[in-house]
Amino acid sequence: MRRKIVIGNWKMNMTRMEAKNLLTLVKESVNVSQTDIAFAVPYTVMETVQKVLAESNIMLGSQNVHSEPRGAYTGEISVEMLKDLEVKYCLVGHSERRKYFLETDETVNKKVKALLEANIKPVVCVGETITQREQGIHLELIRTQVKKALADVDIMHIEDVIIAYEPLWAIGTGVTATSDEAEEVCSFIRYIVAEIYGVSISQNIRILYGGSVNENNAKELFSMPNIDGALVGGASLKPTFVEVINAAEE
Ligand code: 13P
Repeated sequence: MRRKIVIGNWKMNMTRMEAKNLLTLVKESVNVSQTDIAFAVPYTVMETVQKVLAESNIMLGSQNVHSEPRGAYTGEISVEMLKDLEVKYCLVGHSERRKYFLETDETVNKKVKALLEANIKPVVCVGETITQREQGIHLELIRTQVKKALADVDIMHIEDVIIAYEPLWAIGTGVTATSDEAEEVCSFIRYIVAEIYGVSISQNIRILYGGSVNENNAKELFSMPNIDGALVGGASLKPTFVEVINAAEE
């Protein structure tokens, strides 16, 4: 059985004090044993978050990383620096990074491989725009994104990869994909993984849905057979995020 995982993506939000207050509350009120939990936080709060979460089962995540190990890359952060802070998960290729920072499937692939070498779990984000969906090309696009992200990823490491389906039209819009729409794409992603690595490995890979997930819709999304959790933006900034996490366990 795959363990569910709920990941909060704070994006460019939270001071150290805000982070400490929210996570202290989450740590005290969350009540799960079969679900993994992580927060992908800004670099500036990582050390604070690490201290608050010490000896809890909530893990630290990053929203990005650079693929090169070190050197003249002003403003960037390496895998080794993340390891130093005990980061366990790292988002890769979030649609906002693809849109505003010109990340490509090729840079996503480099980052995935660099993270796996360091035993940090990459959370690869894929998803289509509303126009692509209306044109009926979304599944082909997602096939390309998944295949390119996983190019040359060793079978030894593949089960550490998490894939998050985040349709762009559902991110920050309040419009959630229906559970059937999300399930259709998540099961398609599992099928693509099966094509590359075989059916049994595909059954062990965790595939998440993200896009306007909140305490009201989480339970239904989590009931779908191929949705193994959620990547949550806006709702992860509030105390009610605890309800999203607890819904994964029901
Ligand atoms: P929202 O939950 O705010 O729609 O954001 C989703 C997201 O981008 C998570 O990575």
